[in-house]
Amino acid sequence: MRSATFTLAATALFPSALAATYGLTDNYIGSSFLSTFTWEAIADPTAGRVNYVDQQTALSKNLTYANGNTFILRADDTTVLSASGAGRDSVRIRSIKTYTTHVSVFDVRHMPQGCGTWPAAWETDESNWPNGGEVDIIEGVNDESPNAMTLHTSADCTMPASRTMTGTAIVNNCDVNTDGNTGCGVQASTTNSYGPSFNAIGGGIYAMERTSTFIKVWFFPRGSSIPSDVSSGAASINTDNWGTPTAYFPNTDCDIASHFDANNIIINLTFCGDWAGQDSIFQGAGCPGTCVGVDYVNNNPSAFTNAFWDFAAVRVYE
Ligand SMILES: *[C@@H]1O[C@H](CO)[C@@H](O)[C@H](O)[C@H]1NC(C)=O
Ligand SMILES: *[C@@H]1O[C@H](CO)[C@@H](O)[C@H](O)[C@H]1NC(C)=O
Repeated sequence: MRSATFTLAATALFPSALAATYGLTDNYIGSSFLSTFTWEAIADPTAGRVNYVDQQTALSKNLTYANGNTFILRADDTTVLSASGAGRDSVRIRSIKTYTTHVSVFDVRHMPQGCGTWPAAWETDESNWPNGGEVDIIEGVNDESPNAMTLHTSADCTMPASRTMTGTAIVNNCDVNTDGNTGCGVQASTTNSYGPSFNAIGGGIYAMERTSTFIKVWFFPRGSSIPSDVSSGAASINTDNWGTPTAYFPNTDCDIASHFDANNIIINLTFCGDWAGQDSIFQGAGCPGTCVGVDYVNNNPSAFTNAFWDFAAVRVYE
């Protein structure tokens, strides 16, 4: 629970004693993901050239690997696919628990990279989309930096053009029925927020705070000055000490409470599809040939050797 901690005495001593403090409720590390997330062997809703496998298959093919504080989710990088058969094996996992007011902290050592990749770490309610909202925390395609943090909602949810954040707003209407469902996205200000540049520094930590009045996302690159409660995985955190967020979505023109319900955490990795696969986007990223024709994904397994997530932890605070 987000607690508004202030007393008269404390207020007098410390004028800003209204603290956004949260306690650790879920600490997903290594093999603990296996019993707390569902491996969704579903058809890709975004038309990607992917074959999502179940947990048993993922473990037996080593597309899921858990050991100590290492948790890896990867794509198949050895099989040449037949054009008429299923897509490239990959994984999509969804937390069993759902969350409303909370902070999720993603400590990521490596994210999927390579032409055609479209990874995402995000939250939604699959059974009530878009009315239950969607928060994309880490998302992008074809190694194109920077990271985009985006809300997708039902109607009547827009963001003010001017906001206190370090990122840059791209689109301000969050409604899935406008702008071709691009959502209201904010781009991070640094190249190391996504893809190969992110991996080159050993990744970093993304944290998303959701309350009934705002949604904020911070990116802390590995090696930068990371708030100690974040980097240590502390039992309690205070987001007031984390500085200006990378992305800020206030309730000025969007009733956050009614546009977002209890959301699951989802981590996925698809290939090509509706976004990554558009020729202009694929080739614009310097990728060869065509993704939509899916020959790239079918014929180049070794191009997906670095298409893996490595999580040190995912922590949720309420
Ligand atoms: C993966 O995540 C993104 C989140 O933005 C979502 O829009 C997309 O449908 C997901 N794709 C797959 C293939 O699961
Ligand atoms: C499975 O993947 C992990 C992580 O990449 C690796 O360390 C391990 O050697 C792999 N196991 C097998 C049997 O290939």
